[in-house]
Amino acid sequence: MTNLVRGPQLGRMLGQWHALPGRRRSPDYLALAGAVRGLLADGRLPLGVRLPAERELAEALRVSRTTVTAAYRELRETGHLKSRRGAGSWTTLPGGHRVASSGLWTPQDDLDMIDLGCAALAAPAELGAAARAAAEDLPRYLGGAGYHPTGIIELRAAVARLYTDRGLTTSPEQIMVTNGVQHALDLVLRVVLPPGAGVLVESPTYPNALAAFAARRARITTHGLSTEGAGWDTELLLGSLRQTRPRLAYLIPEFQNPTGHLMPAELRERVVATAHASGTDLVVDESFVDLALDGTVMPPPTAVFDRHSRVVTIGGMSKPYWGGLRIGWIRASAPQVQRLAAARVGVDMAGPVLDQLVAVRLLADADTIVAARRGQLAVQRDALLAALRDELPNWRVHPPRGGLTLWAELDGPIASALARAAEEVGVRLAPGPRFGLDGTLERFLRLPFTLPATELAEAVRRIAAVRYDIDRAERPLWREPVVIA
Ligand SMILES: Cc1ncc(COP(=O)(O)O)c(C=O)c1O
Repeated sequence: MTNLVRGPQLGRMLGQWHALPGRRRSPDYLALAGAVRGLLADGRLPLGVRLPAERELAEALRVSRTTVTAAYRELRETGHLKSRRGAGSWTTLPGGHRVASSGLWTPQDDLDMIDLGCAALAAPAELGAAARAAAEDLPRYLGGAGYHPTGIIELRAAVARLYTDRGLTTSPEQIMVTNGVQHALDLVLRVVLPPGAGVLVESPTYPNALAAFAARRARITTHGLSTEGAGWDTELLLGSLRQTRPRLAYLIPEFQNPTGHLMPAELRERVVATAHASGTDLVVDESFVDLALDGTVMPPPTAVFDRHSRVVTIGGMSKPYWGGLRIGWIRASAPQVQRLAAARVGVDMAGPVLDQLVAVRLLADADTIVAARRGQLAVQRDALLAALRDELPNWRVHPPRGGLTLWAELDGPIASALARAAEEVGVRLAPGPRFGLDGTLERFLRLPFTLPATELAEAVRRIAAVRYDIDRAERPLWREPVVIA
């Protein structure tokens, strides 16, 4: 997004702003201010963006200018907007708010909030012991300068072994350790994606990846995933690659975030072949690859089918172990790793040695730690599914065979309204539009199963209560889309 949002664009983002639950009790200007705050809270409207002039927004929304003037005044009073005469109005961070782990704003005092906005687990019990052991390993490195732009060799070797064990022969020279998977993606984009180049992504997809592409001013096209079956439509995906010939395609083949889909082996092979023919590099994000549930047999890594160094794989420890470790990696050809290291020197030089030693210790215990994670996640997923079946039987959910998230199809285009209402009863949600480009996906909600089962059940109970309120409003709060036959 640029620094200026135009009236029609904000109008599209606001969607059914007049359809807030409990609306009939509040005037239009408060509903409008509430809807703008909702866009700010879920990250679709960033900090420092200039809002349209009052007259322009009034025209776009077909409301009186007085309504917009009053809504802007309300936003100024709550600290969400700053205005300067003649210069316009900018979105701001209200006092007492902070930026949360999801990258979104939250009040400072939201300790009681059940946070379903973030799909990440608390640290495993083994982390403390691994950190103590790593501190004892540290003296081995203290005689050197401590800068390892591609990572310390023992961690690179351990990560290379993970790939080799999955059937993808890999040497330590093909691994670069990064500060998390997001950092890995950013570095890869710096090296392979010229500004303004074309990128193909799944829709829905991981929002922070979209932010990374936006930072490179990429021209983004999407491949829509279906909620049914395998998710990817083979012919459509391959057709998009052939027709748009993007410079890069970004895929999450294992327990895709947010849908939870697992890409079959045959499609992996065909995507790699078609990408090569189209001159497209593939960035494959394997963040969730360790989290297969129910004994699901995993297809081979996508890079197994790569014979032309077209595939760059990124992965890391945030999802199976802990996000606070900030350990990720890139698997590429050895020359590509050297190019990435050269680019990294201009970014952050190298990662912390101590944290990498902790990672080595944890990976040595991988079998035990990951098995416990999978057991815990299967129980939590089933508890979430059961609560949804009981409380919200009209929602459609395809039980994922791994990962951390469910992608629920709701009984109306109400995701943003529901997220705003849920916030009021202490549940933070990530509505569908967060995972797309254009404010669509209002019929969907991502629900992570990373919290304990009792909290998940309580969250669903509260969501069901506010869902009920939406139906009880005097006039319909949302309309079915017009069917054009
Ligand atoms: C698909 C995907 N890629 C990357 C990341 C970021 O991972 P990290 O915390 O290691 O930077 C996430 C985190 O949610 C993710 O879901």
